[in-house]
Amino acid sequence: MTSEQSNILKKWFEDYVSGFFQNDPDVNRAIQLKKDHTYRVCRNIQTLCESISLCPNDVRIADITALYHDIGRFPQFARYRTFNDHISCNHARLGVKVLGINRVLHMLSLNERRLISKSIAFHNAVRIPNCLEPRQDIFIRLLRDADKLDIWQVMIDHFSQYRENPKNAVFLNLSDRPECSAKILKAIFDGSFARTQDMATLNDFKLLQISWVFDLNFTATFKIVKERRFIEKLAEGLPPDREVTMAINNALDQVEHCSSVKKSKLRSA
Ligand SMILES: [Fe+2]
Repeated sequence: MTSEQSNILKKWFEDYVSGFFQNDPDVNRAIQLKKDHTYRVCRNIQTLCESISLCPNDVRIADITALYHDIGRFPQFARYRTFNDHISCNHARLGVKVLGINRVLHMLSLNERRLISKSIAFHNAVRIPNCLEPRQDIFIRLLRDADKLDIWQVMIDHFSQYRENPKNAVFLNLSDRPECSAKILKAIFDGSFARTQDMATLNDFKLLQISWVFDLNFTATFKIVKERRFIEKLAEGLPPDREVTMAINNALDQVEHCSSVKKSKLRSA
């Protein structure tokens, strides 16, 4: 991908998104939210690319995967007035469809088109398929880490304002009861990420996000998690039970261990 092609693709994003702003402040707030998120994910992916010394061509590809990863969010909101995939559609799949219908990537090589489309398609998948080509695998992992870093920051900000705005849709109508799901705690003990189906309370939601430390791929990502104290901030307000404390400590151990790994990438692609 040349820098000229990258600039054309960036311009397309701006033009496409600007078409979703209306006279409705609620709609505009939602569209702006996703636009801002997109640009922060682009900045995160730049940091991660630098940490593994990706070549300039691949940095441009990674940047476009970040720019387009949530492109499906805009038509999703326009059509369903929600960002909840469970009650609307899979926004990743919709994003790939949008790019195809508009022939956005047609100026790129078939290989680059595939790298970008697959990265978008799997950015929100529960698991990454293990039969992917090594280069494809790296782009997907970069995008997933860059996306999580921003979601953590956004959710920590929302949790800190919970008392003022408990009805905020980001809390998914979850109850503020003190209970924590045994299945989610077990997932963290076992060093794996928890499942959304097991969430019943707001505490479960926080623990689920803490469990994401077991689905990260790059040393640089762990370093950012450690520097910004994401786990400590998510853990604020969780009940001081023995099980909860042990789970948080397990997540913190993972961050501590993986942020000091010498290799720049943890999982070989
Ligand atoms: Fe997404």
